[in-house]
Amino acid sequence: MSKIQFTETVLRDANQSLIATRMPFEKFEKILPELDKAGYYSLECWGGATFDSCLRYLGEDPWQRLRKIREACPNTKLQMLLRGQNLLGYKHYPDDVVRKFVKKSVENGINIIRIFDALNDTRNIEVAVDETIKNGAIASGTICFTLSPIHDLDLYVKLAKDMENMGVDTICVKDMAGIMGPGEAYDLIKALKENVKIPIVLHTHSTTGLGPMTLLKAAEAGVDVIDTAISCFSGGTSQPSTETMAYSLRQLGFEVDLDDKALKKINDFFKPYRAEVLKSGLLNPVVLATDTDALNYQVPGGMLSNLVAQLTAQNKLDKLDEVLAETPRVRKDLGYPPLVTPMSQMVGVQATANVLAGERYKNVSKEIRNYLRGEYGKAPGEINAGVQKQILGDETPLKIRYADTLAPGFEKAKEEIGDLAESEEDVLSYIAFPTQAEAFLKARKEKKENTVSYSIKKLD
Ligand code: CO
Repeated sequence: MSKIQFTETVLRDANQSLIATRMPFEKFEKILPELDKAGYYSLECWGGATFDSCLRYLGEDPWQRLRKIREACPNTKLQMLLRGQNLLGYKHYPDDVVRKFVKKSVENGINIIRIFDALNDTRNIEVAVDETIKNGAIASGTICFTLSPIHDLDLYVKLAKDMENMGVDTICVKDMAGIMGPGEAYDLIKALKENVKIPIVLHTHSTTGLGPMTLLKAAEAGVDVIDTAISCFSGGTSQPSTETMAYSLRQLGFEVDLDDKALKKINDFFKPYRAEVLKSGLLNPVVLATDTDALNYQVPGGMLSNLVAQLTAQNKLDKLDEVLAETPRVRKDLGYPPLVTPMSQMVGVQATANVLAGERYKNVSKEIRNYLRGEYGKAPGEINAGVQKQILGDETPLKIRYADTLAPGFEKAKEEIGDLAESEEDVLSYIAFPTQAEAFLKARKEKKENTVSYSIKKLD
């Protein structure tokens, strides 16, 4: 039987999904040599929310964190998650910024960049993919998995082929909501394996309890790499457990090259930290439980809790059923965007507004307007022309990629941040998260000045 490889997510997605990406570097520093020995295909350790969290909450330079991981893990491919033209956030950046960010990520130690776009608009990943390849790293073209009447096997196969033609090295199917069932996984992975030559990676979450079964059927269909988290940081909104999947796959005859002794050491290392964050409340046991609501409503769990929170805040929780019925109608009007951030929030807020106003699209958010203008990219399906006209009037939507309307941004940002930035990496931090980065860079400068004056005093 074939070989299945593993991407370990404990440092990024598990960390992000279970404890809001608050794991400081010093909490995992000592286990890095063991993570390096375990035999993973890759270690997902950067990008996503790690960057923002380092600057905003942990007082860490995200670039330095990456360099330190690189140094401690010389034998393992380091992987990051990148939102295509949005980099690590939700706004579109000009191409020069995207290229510089990718280039510096690779220079600082990244080997694999998993690149996605929330709408699966391949124009929004093209530049990041091109720059990744130019810098000699592995570009993983990523498809956001969603359920809708237009998201069928043909559409996914076409996306994968487009990405393969773009030159990506692997295709990743990203089921961010954990709604992909084992049957869907089997059919989809099989169809992709039959139609593209490059390796296929599957990313899912255990949220609805489907995760391990989904990965197992994907393995039977020929998947090459799966994402898992070391067991004490697995399950619930995180990934299925590394050790459990390795055990099950071997039992079924698959080849798995993981070092069980190393996995045991890694898990034993993280157990006291898990106990610590459970005790402090940073890890809420609720996120570790199985939640099947997403399966009943066909909306991701996070979106459902947002809807409930919105309605509760307005004392209108009795409207939940109406809002849940309106949600798929709004999504249809918008051409079936995948329900991932920020689209899930935008669709949810609009459905709520439509129900509460008693009139559809009477109140429309700026984000929905921008979406209809084409600023997020191309909708996967047809946008309802009547709704578009009602909201935009005679304004014609963009035909070109939104980033093509943006002026270059790196040099301008470099001037803006001035002396506070000591490197191009600092400028990129500032571009990605201006407020947080500026505060971080100021604090760093003050700390340095204090250290200098202290050492001068000592000399006296
Ligand atoms: Co994920």
